[in-house]
Amino acid sequence: MDKEAEINRKVEALLNRMTLEEKAGQMVNVGLKALCEGDFYGGQDTIRFDSAKLYGLIQEHLVGSVQNMGKYPLTTEEWRYFIGRIQEVALKETRLGIPVIYGIDGVHGANYTVGSTLFPHQIGLAATRNPELARSMGQITAYEAKASGIPWVYGPTLDVAKHPLWGRISETFGEDTYINQVMGDAYLQGAQGDGINGPYSIAVCPKHFIGYGNPFNGKDRSPVYLPEYMLRQYYLPPFVSAIKNGAQSIMLNSGSVNAIPCHIDKYLITDLLKGELGFEGVVISDWADVDNLVGVHRVAEDEKHAVQLAVNAGLDMVMEPYDASFATDLVELVKEGAVPMARINDAVRRILTLKMKLGLFEQTVYPASAYPEFASEAFAGASFQAALESLTLLKNEKAALPLSKEKKVLVTGVAANSLNYLNGAWSRTFSGQETEYNDEEKLTVLEALQDKLGASRVIYAQGTDYEEDINTAEAVRKAATADAIIICLGERPATEKPSDIEDLSMPAAQRELVKALAQTGKPIILVLLEGRPRVISDIEPLADAILMAYYPGNEGGRAIAEVLTGEYNPGGKLPYTYPRYTGSLFAYDHTRSEERDVNWGFEAFNPQFEFGFGLSYTTFAYDELEVSPLEVGPGDSLQVSVRVTNTGSRTGTETVQLFLTDKVASVTPPVRQLKRFAKASLIPGESRRVAFTLYTEDLQFVNRYNQWVAEQGEFTISIDQLSRDFFLRED
Ligand code: BGC
Repeated sequence: MDKEAEINRKVEALLNRMTLEEKAGQMVNVGLKALCEGDFYGGQDTIRFDSAKLYGLIQEHLVGSVQNMGKYPLTTEEWRYFIGRIQEVALKETRLGIPVIYGIDGVHGANYTVGSTLFPHQIGLAATRNPELARSMGQITAYEAKASGIPWVYGPTLDVAKHPLWGRISETFGEDTYINQVMGDAYLQGAQGDGINGPYSIAVCPKHFIGYGNPFNGKDRSPVYLPEYMLRQYYLPPFVSAIKNGAQSIMLNSGSVNAIPCHIDKYLITDLLKGELGFEGVVISDWADVDNLVGVHRVAEDEKHAVQLAVNAGLDMVMEPYDASFATDLVELVKEGAVPMARINDAVRRILTLKMKLGLFEQTVYPASAYPEFASEAFAGASFQAALESLTLLKNEKAALPLSKEKKVLVTGVAANSLNYLNGAWSRTFSGQETEYNDEEKLTVLEALQDKLGASRVIYAQGTDYEEDINTAEAVRKAATADAIIICLGERPATEKPSDIEDLSMPAAQRELVKALAQTGKPIILVLLEGRPRVISDIEPLADAILMAYYPGNEGGRAIAEVLTGEYNPGGKLPYTYPRYTGSLFAYDHTRSEERDVNWGFEAFNPQFEFGFGLSYTTFAYDELEVSPLEVGPGDSLQVSVRVTNTGSRTGTETVQLFLTDKVASVTPPVRQLKRFAKASLIPGESRRVAFTLYTEDLQFVNRYNQWVAEQGEFTISIDQLSRDFFLRED
């Protein structure tokens, strides 16, 4: 019998032995704190099991899954102790001995384990345009999560993020569907390996299904309004691909799509995800989102009603951080005939299958000795490489960069001497703002520059806090002896609701710092450490150079210093459109009509920096764009190639990006869409022909009837400033 059939047989056998109560318990995912002393939000400084709670939840309520952490990160030993103890109770002190599945957020590495490798956030990975780095992030996250006894990680985030105000952009691969798909696939393959069983792979949990990245008002967890054709064309593909590549669980979007909360949307969960897309894994709710159907969404009268709606819609596991009341309600609902037993069996079958595929029935935690590479230099090296490739040079005039090592610099700004502003949220703690859990041996931008240039060449004054002036005047005074000024502007780490903002502009105090320092007439170099693109249009003209760093992680200080001093030649490309105005917020793949401005022209798309933009210390020229054949029929493929030449005097890496425009379509087409990209590393004077193959599927869009179609007509392929038209024939 093959492995899959064997698992199915075992799952059915176990399912047949289970009582309703045992099944309902499997569907609950509680927070670790619910098993521990103190109030859930009591802020206790140390985390300790409360025996009554541990036994109450695992033995009595038969809870099948635990998640998250306490107030502070745990060491691998502590994690192994906590998870090991939970497993001990589940395995030895319950009737059936079903192991618990422990889940946690691993947003940019196994971020809740002390000392683990912290990578750039996904938005930076997207800027690298290098899927190998996403794969390596997935692999290392899996290794270090498993070293902590954790087999299940809530990620990658596959939310195509189209609203610049949304506070979780840093957690995504940006505004483009194709990049989300390619990078998401690579992360998944790295994390899951050849199978999720064994000591070095985890089960991923792509999130948040679906549309979460495009909240209508830009606030987290708020309504999304999406016609189905758009949902299918722009938001679904990364999930479709993740399912094809073996994703075994998916987390739902906390908000609503077209006014129906995702958690009760039977069409989305059961018909589309499980039916049409054939997803056989576990659908888990987001944090307390069944409760939220009552108080927040107001679609259920009480919790029991909420449980009924969510489970009947297709939810398999509830992330109910505080208690197991979900299971109690569910048992009653089944007995009352309000939730069919078949639905419970379907959910539990999925959960048990996931546990078996993970090998939890054989081994829950592997020996510490299996993880000699935990937090190794090699892992830090992978994070460093990702940070280097993510850095995106947005402006460089008057040869402001690279900095000469002979020069003296003033380093200033809220993010200049902070590991928190390098790491963003989900760094040792949820908010990432606490300084006491930082890895002090890692270098801030200031420290890394001191290392490179020598302490005597680096002057420092913080200048401002996130929103308040601290000592701008002192920074200006100190600038007198500097040859150049490096200002590290930043966005305070935050996620979810706490990341909501009222104004997309970079806070005024930080912009005032730039204005005051610009008065000195010295070269101004801005380094941006931010998740979403904060508007800087009033200070951009004052800067000679601008380097976008996103949230580059623990090695980000070193990486930024290498780029500023020219030891590394930057090549990152923007994964989103950087707006110039707070009132003009649209993605690069908008429709032409979105561009119409009040003067009735079509010039309203005038962002600060375009999606895909990024400079280098060398220059690249493109020519000889060739497309063949110039007419294709259904099923044909198209060969596209272009020559790229390094015309400058330094070795550099260019990302060649291929965009497609459908000139006329029955649904207003986007002005262009990214279809392929490839990186080419070239020495000065070197040329390379970069080739791509497109298929007729790449020419498709979703029509009025929600079908993927390619319509006859002309298309344009563009790479850099070159373009060629070709014709698609409908046979
Ligand atoms: C977030 C998810 C996260 C979950 C567990 C939620 O509030 O929206 O992205 O995975 O919490 O921590």
